[in-house]
Amino acid sequence: MNGKPKKREKILVVDDDKYVLQTFKDFLSILNYDTVTVSSGVKAIEYLSNNTPECVLIDMVMPDMSGLDLIDYIRINFPYISFIAVSAVSEIDVIKTAMQKGAYDYLIKPVKITDLAMTVKRAIERGKLLKENIEYKNKLEQKVNEQTRYIKKMFLRAINAMIKALEARDHYTEGHSERVSNFSVILGKAMGIENNNINNLRIAALLHDIGKIGIKDKILSKPEGLNSHERSIIMQHPLIGERILRYFIDNQDILKGVRNHHERYDGKGYPDKLKGQDIPLFARIICVTDSFDALKTDRPYRTSKSINEIKTIMENESGKQFDPEIIKVFLKLIDENKIIQ
Ligand SMILES: [Fe+2]
Ligand SMILES: [Fe+2]
Repeated sequence: MNGKPKKREKILVVDDDKYVLQTFKDFLSILNYDTVTVSSGVKAIEYLSNNTPECVLIDMVMPDMSGLDLIDYIRINFPYISFIAVSAVSEIDVIKTAMQKGAYDYLIKPVKITDLAMTVKRAIERGKLLKENIEYKNKLEQKVNEQTRYIKKMFLRAINAMIKALEARDHYTEGHSERVSNFSVILGKAMGIENNNINNLRIAALLHDIGKIGIKDKILSKPEGLNSHERSIIMQHPLIGERILRYFIDNQDILKGVRNHHERYDGKGYPDKLKGQDIPLFARIICVTDSFDALKTDRPYRTSKSINEIKTIMENESGKQFDPEIIKVFLKLIDENKIIQ
């Protein structure tokens, strides 16, 4: 034996005429369908809230809720259920509208059992195809989302690996990238940068010094002051950083944030000597957070400063090194204890 008998397909019939409902019920049970009949659109909606029929036969002209209104409801809430418009021959305009709204087919009263059999069978097949299609799309979407999450995770791991490689060479800057990234996110949020961009800012700040990977050890961790030649080599790091990152990042905000984080608001920075608002926003932000972290951290050539000293230095650099608007927000964040935890 073949095990369980085949499950009968469910048909919902909506008509305000008891006689018509009975005829449909009789015909559909002869055709071996599991049939439920209801006498109004409201009752149909009630039924649909707990049941999913394969097909709905809808009388077009009913008191209270019209057949067309019911069609709208089904189309929006159950896009994979096929529905058939049922009507008298005199209501041909309504049938036309029902077809435009997505009815699979129509039946004219009085309905012949042969027409009913054929129309319902086809409508159910079409419904199954639609359902399969929707399920396939959903699965595909889910898979794409999973892949996207995986790629993002791998991307972040690659970034962290690069940061670790950089900081393994220069223990004085250990944790610097992460701190600058955290400060930049706090500052960016306080400036009203939207979420999507905050994430890019986080990455730009995390990678701002990655170009130091390309600077020789003896210059990178030199304990005394650098001579002008060595300084010019160190000054290459924003450009080297941008060049490295271009291989796997194409977001211009991130790339410019890295390239221009040593520009100064007064135009005396490097590498492009940009001035004022011509300096990309991420770079102006990182310039502030980067300097702050440098001032509060011990470096080979000096020890860290007190928070009041740092604030005075930074205030004095407003409009010189720093964007006045950004430094204002940053100093306020310091006062509110939102920067030093
Ligand atoms: Fe830097
Ligand atoms: Fe830095």
